[in-house]
Amino acid sequence: MRALTYHGAQDVRVDTVPDPSIKADDDVILRVTATAICGSDLHLYHGRIPQTEPGDIFGHEFMGIVEERGPAVTNLQVGDRVVIPFVIACGSCFFCQHDLFAACETTNTDRGAIPSKKVVPPGAALFGYSHLYGGVPGGQADYVRVPKANFGPFKVPTALPDDKVLFLSDILPTAWQAVTNAQVGKGSTLAIYGAGPVGLLSAACARMLGAQTIFMIDNNEYRLAFARDAYGVIPINFLEDDDPADSIIRLTPGMRGVDAVIDAVGFEAKGSTAESVLTSLKIEGSNGKALRQSLVAVRRGGVVSVPGVYAGYIHGFMFGDAFDKGLTFKMGQTHVQKYLPELLEHIEAGRLQPELIVTHRLALEEAAMGYKMFDQKKDNCRKVILVPGATAGTFAG
Ligand SMILES: NC(=O)c1ccc[n+]([C@@H]2O[C@H](COP(=O)([O-])OP(=O)(O)OC[C@H]3O[C@@H](n4cnc5c(N)ncnc54)[C@H](O)[C@@H]3O)[C@@H](O)[C@H]2O)c1
Ligand SMILES: [Zn+2]
Ligand SMILES: [Zn+2]
Repeated sequence: MRALTYHGAQDVRVDTVPDPSIKADDDVILRVTATAICGSDLHLYHGRIPQTEPGDIFGHEFMGIVEERGPAVTNLQVGDRVVIPFVIACGSCFFCQHDLFAACETTNTDRGAIPSKKVVPPGAALFGYSHLYGGVPGGQADYVRVPKANFGPFKVPTALPDDKVLFLSDILPTAWQAVTNAQVGKGSTLAIYGAGPVGLLSAACARMLGAQTIFMIDNNEYRLAFARDAYGVIPINFLEDDDPADSIIRLTPGMRGVDAVIDAVGFEAKGSTAESVLTSLKIEGSNGKALRQSLVAVRRGGVVSVPGVYAGYIHGFMFGDAFDKGLTFKMGQTHVQKYLPELLEHIEAGRLQPELIVTHRLALEEAAMGYKMFDQKKDNCRKVILVPGATAGTFAG
């Protein structure tokens, strides 16, 4: 089969690789009909996630048709159309019983990512996300093996095209978890750092929940312009305003700051040269620029909600400010499975239209070009969908 594989930083290629096969009784093999490139894939693409090996197949946002099932699979039939959560969870361990599926302690046979882990079991395995997270081949491929198939795969109605439901695999539940963690409700004021797919869908969810004012910060004018037109955000370009938090505070009643901030940027934040150098030298684990801005922009007693991925240490983290303001921090990988039924209802009712953020449909064969475009923000790229089996150039123009 064909699959997008890692060859080194900034070097991914579509290669011919062996077809996957059933390994455990509760696996299924899925024929992938659509898959997307995520901001999290860019961390892998940049060579920033340790234990990513040449030949690893990427891709954790995908859906398709069940092609084959293991003997213990009872919930799915061959031919079922399903979206697959990027988090692989068993559904029955301590954490799964608490709906904390990203913390599933039975699926990741690798070490996990935290430096001070001690004997704590790692969190859940993730598709296509290095040998820290289980080394499970990803879904930017013609076919993919899906473990724990009695629990993860989520059936979707045939009436809804792939574009509308594909993002149930990751970025829509991620945005949803971010806004619910941020306690967004009617009349809320919110700032969202990062106008990538996660930030944009967070704005969509926040609007649906009745947020009154949404500031959005990024350095890509075209992404900010889309967010302003689609979700009515107040855009702030940090290339023109190098302290967006200060501007946000000045624009909120009583100069208190916003009720909540969502950091949809993560550890590769731009805008602090010193920190970028320290992180590339691996002296610093994460660039703290967006996170610091977040805790400055939020009001006393407010929430900083962090869907953006962080790794290792951040020096100069203003914990004293956070203490003085009495902040709440909520963060982490998304407990995808928990949110799918309610999100599907919102899509079916037309309250959420996640497909609006898509700018590019490419054949899987063109995936390397898709990575480059999404990474370099070329051609006004917001989100790329890859279609296995299609001929290169099919979707051109
Ligand atoms: N928690 C989860 O389960 C989960 C799921 C999906 C994605 N993520 C993470 O969410 C983050 C965003 O993902 P995405 O798909 O939207 O990626 P993306 O890379 O397209 O978006 C990030 C955006 O942040 C902007 N940015 C960079 N530095 C900034 C700064 N200092 N201030 C404001 N904006 C800045 C970039 O220009 C870009 O538009 C990534 O870290 C990704 O790994 C987490
Ligand atoms: Zn993702
Ligand atoms: Zn579990």
